Amino acid sequence: MRIDIVSLFPEFVAACAGFGVVGRAQERGLLSLHGWNPRDYAEGNYRRVDDRPFGGGPGMVMLIDPLRAAIAAARAADPAPARVVYLSPQGRRLNQARVRELAGRERMLLLCGRYEGVDERLVRAEVDEELSIGDYVLSGGELAAAVVVDAVARLQAGALNDAESAAQDSFEDDGLLDCPHYTRPVSHPLGDVPEVLLSGNHAEISRWRRQQALGRTWERRPDLLDEQNLSPADRALLAD
Ligand code: ADE
Repeated sequence: MRIDIVSLFPEFVAACAGFGVVGRAQERGLLSLHGWNPRDYAEGNYRRVDDRPFGGGPGMVMLIDPLRAAIAAARAADPAPARVVYLSPQGRRLNQARVRELAGRERMLLLCGRYEGVDERLVRAEVDEELSIGDYVLSGGELAAAVVVDAVARLQAGALNDAESAAQDSFEDDGLLDCPHYTRPVSHPLGDVPEVLLSGNHAEISRWRRQQALGRTWERRPDLLDEQNLSPADRALLAD
């Protein structure tokens, strides 16, 4: 997958993506990141990329033309069509289903705004979808872009090692939170590993994990349970 990042700080997003699974996905050729800085496409001695908002108010608004030129340069760099995803708190909220959908694309372009935002005419003309990573405001879209890059990178086929992909993640498959995990030592001053995990009885272990996942979801995120139809077996586990 190819991801183009239009940002005043493209190196920042790339630096966030240089480690662990995402770094490895790049090394394995499963993911390539390409930064495009609108300042490189701005004109005049000062290479202005923003200006004061019409109507007054605090902050600055990013200019249309440098952003548009950066997007055009990114598009021209590769023949594959790229949908433009604008990271903003006004966007649709990201979830794992959406991540899966994005991860299946051959290419996408992430547009990061700074300051108070981006001229609305640019958004209307160039943006295919607006995406928020949560109901809070960041000082720019770069961290949000890094979140998207990380989440889609780990879903590229071959990005995770076997052990990692075998692990049941929160939200994967069933939309539940993850069960708790334990490793050595079995006994520790902070507590013992639940016995069922040492039993070797895989059916019992699966049942326990499912029950833990259901219980945690019920306690912490009941909204997720409302959204899914629990099987009679799950209801019994929850009641247990
Ligand atoms: N830019 C600023 N805040 C953001 C958020 N919550 N999600 C995505 N992009 C943003």
